[in-house]
This record gives sequence, C-alpha cells and structure tokens, in this order.
Amino acid sequence: MDAPVPASPRPRSRVVSGMRPTGALHLGHYHGALKNWVRLQHDHECYFFVADWHALTTHYADREDLERNVYDMVVDWLAAGIDPDRATLFIQSRLPEHAELFALLAMGTPLSWLERVPSYKDQIKALTGRDLATYGFLGYPLLQAADILIYKAALVPVGEDQAPHVEITREVARRFNHLYGGGNTVLPEPAVLLTEVSKLPGLDGAKMSKSLANDIAMREEPAEVERKIRRMPTDPDRVRRTDRGNPERCPVWQFHRVYSDTDTQAWVTQGCTTAGIGCLECKQPVIDAIVRQQAPWRERAEAYLSNPKQVHWIVEVGTERARARARQTMREVRGAMGLVY
Ligand code: TRP
Ligand code: SF4
Repeated sequence: MDAPVPASPRPRSRVVSGMRPTGALHLGHYHGALKNWVRLQHDHECYFFVADWHALTTHYADREDLERNVYDMVVDWLAAGIDPDRATLFIQSRLPEHAELFALLAMGTPLSWLERVPSYKDQIKALTGRDLATYGFLGYPLLQAADILIYKAALVPVGEDQAPHVEITREVARRFNHLYGGGNTVLPEPAVLLTEVSKLPGLDGAKMSKSLANDIAMREEPAEVERKIRRMPTDPDRVRRTDRGNPERCPVWQFHRVYSDTDTQAWVTQGCTTAGIGCLECKQPVIDAIVRQQAPWRERAEAYLSNPKQVHWIVEVGTERARARARQTMREVRGAMGLVY
C-alpha cells in the first residue's frame, strides 16, 4: 500500500500590525481592530507590536505614562484572546533594527511623498496645542513602512485612515527594489487588509474615544458599565415614556446592532416606535451583553495582572522572535545596498 501523502502545509501569509500605546483599550478598539487580530491569528503568521515610537511622534514630551500604557495595552490584547503561542507580540522600541531600516529608507525617499500623506496636514491642524512641525512627525509613515517591510509582511490589517501609509510602504518597497535589487525583490510589497470600521460608536453617538469621555473600557467594572449605559442619551425626541421614538436617532440602537440578536432588535424597534418599552428597559439587554462579553476578558486579565512577570516574558519571547526575522532582512538590505564591509 502506498504511504499516505503528507498534506502539504498551507503557507500562512505573514501579517504585521501595530497599535499606539494609548493605555487600557476600550470597546471601540476591540470592535475596530483587536477583534480582527484575534481572528487573523488562527490562519496567519501574525506579528503584533506596540508602536511606542509612533506614540512619541505626536506625544514626544509625555514619558510618564508610556510604560504603564504599553503594558495595559498588552494585557488587553491577551485578555481579548490574542494567543502568544500563535502570534508574536513585541515592543517596537526594543528593536533598533526598525530604526536602522527607517534611516536607510529615508535616504532615497522623496520628501514630497511624506508631505502629501493626507494625515500629515490634517493631524497638524487637528492636534492644535501640540507642536508637530517636527522631523519625527513628518517621517512617521516611513517609520511605519520600515515596521512592515522589515518582516516582509504580505498583509497589513489597518483601518481606512491608515491605508495611505500602506500605499507609501508599497512605493518605498518598489523604489528600494528598483535602486538596489538588481532585478530581485528584496522587500516585497505588502497589501492592505482593510478592517471594517467599528460599528460601535461612543456613548454619545460620536466616535468612541477616551479623551471624549464617551468610552467603555474593555476591563470596565460591571457596575460602571451599567451606570454608563443607563446614563446614555437616547432619541432626543423621546422625552417622556409615552413618546414614541425612532431607534435610528438613538445611540443605544447602534449598541443593539452590535450586541443583540435579531429577536432583541425586533423587540427594540417594535417597543421604541410604539412607546411599548421604556429606554431603561431597552438598555438592559445591552448592559447584559457587554458584561457577558467582558467576563472572560476580565478573568484572563486578572490572571495576567497577578503575574506581571508572565506578561514581560511573553513580550520578551515575542521580541526575540521578531528580532531573528528583522536581523535576517537587515542582512539582505545591507547586502543589497553594498553595506557589507
Ligand atoms: N500608525 C499606526 C497607528 O497610528 C500604528 C502602526 C505603526 C502600524 N506601525 C504600523 C500599523 C505598522 C500597521 C503596521 O495606528
Ligand atoms: Fe433608544 Fe431604546 Fe429608548 Fe428607543 S427605546 S429611544 S432605541 S433607548
């Protein structure tokens, strides 16, 4: 009898993504990015990193919170179900190789490519009160290109706002290969993997954000979840219990769209438009669903928080795994550029 043909292992494409260490994450981060990361780790080779240098491109004077923010965020990644045995987790600043590639790419990158990145001028306008006329801020999409190219990523899961940075990464790779590749692809061009925008707004209907104080943290206490949802504004035209409402005008409805099944949604639509239910009644299933979703997160987070050494160790192992890859690419890059002497 013939020996069974071994199943050829399906090559898993490499995924690289980073997040700025903004501290403990909220539900908007979960639905907007992290949920997708958790999914991707099952059939891709994932590199997820804390983009702490990126945080310094805009918040270069805020060093006090950096360390806590880094580890609060990593704990939330783990709490959400990122599995350190599947995905490689690391901290950008622990890998000077990223800075080396950034410097080498900077030599041949036209200034105009960076100046025309849409977020550049927008952010300078938006972040008033911060002096962003810095070299680091202009260069940050190129640093991002280095983060991606150093792992030869095939896919970069990011939101729409970050897509231009992946586009510039492709241009930078193309230029590098043209200048130094001698017909070979040293740095493959990555593709953007667009993450659906989070359907979950903040408590007031605007984009969820800690600075707007309209957020629910991933590790928010259940009592606090309840308090926040109960205080959520509803359809402004539904003033009295007897007023009929319109879910489309109510931020609570957006939460039902994410957290409720079709039966509950039908109950809301029916009850709201006929004044058959009160708003607090309507909010209860949302409270329950969020608290239920958070329970395993809280449990995992508690285990990690009671053993911070384990979190450091996870990051340590991930950093060294990433370093092996990054070093290999840098050897090839130096070789291609004639920097081996
Ligand atoms: N610039 C991204 C942000 O602000 C974070 C980031 C840094 C990143 N390097 C990256 C994302 C590489 C994807 C790939 O959200
Ligand atoms: Fe909003 Fe529900 Fe109140 Fe309607 S019943 S206004 S959907 S909270």
